[in-house]
Amino acid sequence: MTFKKNILCIGAGYVGGPTMAMIAYKCPQYRVTVVDVNPDRIAAWNSDDIPIYEPGLDELVAATRGRNLFFSTDIETGIRENDIIFVSVNTPTKAFGLGAGMAADLQHWEKTARQILEYSQSSKIVIEKSTLPVKTALAMERILNCRENGICFDVLSNPEFLAEGSAIRDLELPDRILIGSRETERGLKARQSLAEIYANWVSEEKIITSNIWSSELSKLVSNAFLAQRISSINAISALCEKAEADVTEVARAVGMDSRIGSKFLNASIGFGGSCFKKDILNLVYLCRHYGLEEVADYWDSVVRINDYQQERFIRNMLAAMFNTLAGKRICLWGFAFKSNTGDTRESPAIFVARRLIEERAEIVVSDPKALKNARLDLAGLGSKVDYVEEAARAAEGCHAIALLTEWDLYRHLDFQAIFDSMSKPAFIFDGRNILDHRRCFDIGFNVYPVGKPPLTHF
Ligand code: NAD
Ligand code: UGA
Repeated sequence: MTFKKNILCIGAGYVGGPTMAMIAYKCPQYRVTVVDVNPDRIAAWNSDDIPIYEPGLDELVAATRGRNLFFSTDIETGIRENDIIFVSVNTPTKAFGLGAGMAADLQHWEKTARQILEYSQSSKIVIEKSTLPVKTALAMERILNCRENGICFDVLSNPEFLAEGSAIRDLELPDRILIGSRETERGLKARQSLAEIYANWVSEEKIITSNIWSSELSKLVSNAFLAQRISSINAISALCEKAEADVTEVARAVGMDSRIGSKFLNASIGFGGSCFKKDILNLVYLCRHYGLEEVADYWDSVVRINDYQQERFIRNMLAAMFNTLAGKRICLWGFAFKSNTGDTRESPAIFVARRLIEERAEIVVSDPKALKNARLDLAGLGSKVDYVEEAARAAEGCHAIALLTEWDLYRHLDFQAIFDSMSKPAFIFDGRNILDHRRCFDIGFNVYPVGKPPLTHF
C-alpha cells in the first residue's frame, strides 16, 4: 500500500507515543513511524504492555499498530524514508556546566539534528515537538543547512500542549494547534504541509500559525502561566490556614469571575511533573541571559512558592503529630504526580517521602499505577519503605495517611474500616482536598486539608 505521507517521530516517550498514535488513528492514509534510542522502550511499545499508562491509549495503539503505526529502533532508515520528521526527545534541565540546574539540556536535541543531517538523502520538514528555549530553531537550521548538496531542511515549531492523564482527549480535542515557521515562501509551504495533517480532525480556526520564535516562546509561557495559577492559589492556601478561611471557597468565588476562570485553582501539595519546573527554570534562565533580572525573579518565585508549599505540608504534619514522626508509620496515598498516570517525574510525593524518612518515619507507598516508578525513585531509602498497591491495606496499622495524588478511588473507600485498622489517634493529611473531610472527622480521624481549618478531636 502506498501512503499519502510518511511521517517519522524521533523520541517514543510520553509525547511521541501518544501524539503519533493519534495521527495514525485519525489519518489511516499516512504511515507513521516512531523511533527511539532506547530498545526496551521500543520493545514495550511493540508488546501488550505499552510503556505508558494513559486512559484510551491502549485502544489507539491496538487499532493502529502494524496497520499504519510502527515502532522501531532503526533511526537511520526512519530518517531516510520519511520526509516529515517530528522530534520529541527529552529536554531536561541541564545538570552540569554553565546553566546547571536552570537551562535546558539540549544534547539529545542536537544529537538528533546531526543524525537527521547525516542520514538524509532528500529534503525534509523537521518539526520541533519537544519544548525548547526560544531561538533553538536557529541552531537547528544552522546545523542542518551546513551542507551544500541540494538537500534542504525546513524547521517548524509545533509545541505539544497535552497534559498527562488526559493526553488522548487533549490530542483529539485540542484547544489549539500552534505552528510556527519562517515567514519565507519555503517556510509558509512547510507550515501548510503540517497544518494539512492536523486538518484531518482539528477544525481550521483552531490551527493557528505564528512566527517561529513566538511559537517556541508560547509553549514556555503557557506552562509558566499554568504553574503560576497553582502557585498563586497555593500561596493563598497558606494565608487561609492562618485566617480560618477556606481556600476552596475562595477559589470558587474568585474563579467565577469570567476574566479569571475556574480551572487550575486547586490548592495542593504543589505541582509536579516533568515539565512545569524545568520549563519555568528555562524561562528564568533565558530572562537572565537577556539581562531581564526583574522578569527572571518574578517567574522564579513561582518555583519558590512550589518548594515552600511542599515543605509546608511536612511542617504541618510534624506540628499536628506532636512534633515527632520518628518511628511512626505513615501511609502515602498516591505517588504519581497527578491522577490517571503512572508518571512520577518531579512528583511532590518523592519530596514528601524523602522528608518523612529524614524525620525517621516509616512509610508505606500506595498507588494504582505508579508503584514501579516509585520503587525506582525511592531506591536506596532502604527498609523503611513498604509498597502496597491496595489503599485500605496500605493504611493498616499506620498513624497517618498523607493523600498525595487525586486518584478518584480514594474518595470511595470504607473510611470506617480504615480508621478501625489504624493506630490512634489517626490522622489524614489531604494534600489534594478531595476527601469528605467532615465524614472522616465524624468517624474519628483528625483531618488536615490544604488551606482550610483542620478538623481535630483535641
Ligand atoms: P520522555 O523522556 O518520555 O521521552 C523522550 C524519548 O526520547 C525517550 O524515550 C528517549 O530515549 C528518546 N531519545 C532521547 N534522545 C534520542 C535520540 N537521540 N534519538 C532517538 N530517541 C531519543 O519525554 P517526554 O515526556 O515525551 O517529553 C519530550 C518533550 O516533550 C520534552 O521536551 C517535554 O518538555 C515536551 N513535552 C512533554 C509533555 C508531557 O506531558 N510529558 C507535554 C508537552 C511537551
Ligand atoms: C502540563 C500542562 O498542563 C500541559 O498543557 C503541558 O503540555 C505539559 O505540562 C507539558 O508541557 O509537559 P501535566 O504536567 O502533564 O501538563 O499535567 P497538569 O494537569 O498540568 O498538572 C501538573 C501538576 O499541577 C500536577 O502535579 C497537578 O496535580 C498539579 N495541579 C494542577 C495542581 O496542583 N492544581 C491544579 O489546579 C492543577
